Amino acid sequence: MSYETILLETRGRVALITLNRPQALNALNSTVMNELRQVLTAIQSDDAIGAAVLTGSEKAFAAGADIKEMQSLNFIDAYLGDFISGWDDVASFRKPLIAAVSGFALGGGCELAMICDFIIASKTAKFGQPEITLGVIPGMGGTQRLTRAVGKAKAMDLCLTGRMMDAQEAESAGLVARIVEPERLVEEAVAAAEKIAGFSQPAVRMAKEAVNRAFEQTLGEGLRFERRLFHSLFATEDQKEGMAAFIEKRRADFKNR
Ligand code: HXC
Repeated sequence: MSYETILLETRGRVALITLNRPQALNALNSTVMNELRQVLTAIQSDDAIGAAVLTGSEKAFAAGADIKEMQSLNFIDAYLGDFISGWDDVASFRKPLIAAVSGFALGGGCELAMICDFIIASKTAKFGQPEITLGVIPGMGGTQRLTRAVGKAKAMDLCLTGRMMDAQEAESAGLVARIVEPERLVEEAVAAAEKIAGFSQPAVRMAKEAVNRAFEQTLGEGLRFERRLFHSLFATEDQKEGMAAFIEKRRADFKNR
């Protein structure tokens, strides 16, 4: 299947998804959103894929929602059409999804990166929520996910001034997991995804689900949720295999990869 705004490639057990609207710095229009949802649905049901990487170009991961598409939108259409709610499908993708960010990740682009499970950034990455400069505010989670990632001070600074932060600042603030040289970005992200895809998938999915719960409930409830998931993994063959492999000093051969 080929797409207008997305390139999809498989590397081992990893799906590499590349946003491909170079003429608009990967601005996220409805075609990108719909195609990304289709791609993720296909990956979700493909047992040969254990994890995915989402990337853009060297210049831009994504420069935000498509301003030209949004400009004439009115309140009634936005509200009744539940504008941008389709991005929720990206957030509910169950396999690990790593954002490999180079260049601009602004507005919806920064928000899309934050929807991913973690961000690996090239030294050239620039993150920001410039919506305020357009007379609006973030609408795909910027005020919420950014605040949880970097705290109130920096989230307010970025959302209220519209300034960008570089990769170094984003890493120190907790938005970015790792920074790599630009030419190693995709390779490093695919290697991380390949590593994840080699583990027991029930454990991987539960780890993702449990970390995500930390953003939604109290510590007590989160700990109880984690404990129940942890208990349930003792019902899997992979737990027996993983622990036996450790004791026997060999590499684990997980059945549910
Ligand atoms: C539509 C965009 C775009 C965008 C860039 N382009 N960003 N088109 N929507 N978000 C287009 C430009 O119009 C231009 O097209 C081409 O991409 C190249 O962009 P330039 O501006 O010429 O490049 P440069 O000078 O290098 O500047 C890069 C930039 C700037 C700093 C990233 O493009 C920029 O500020 N973009 C907008 C960033 C932004 O405000 N994002 C938030 C959007 S609102 P032409 O045809 O002129 O060559 C948002 C809300 C999210 O994301 C919440 C709800 C979804």
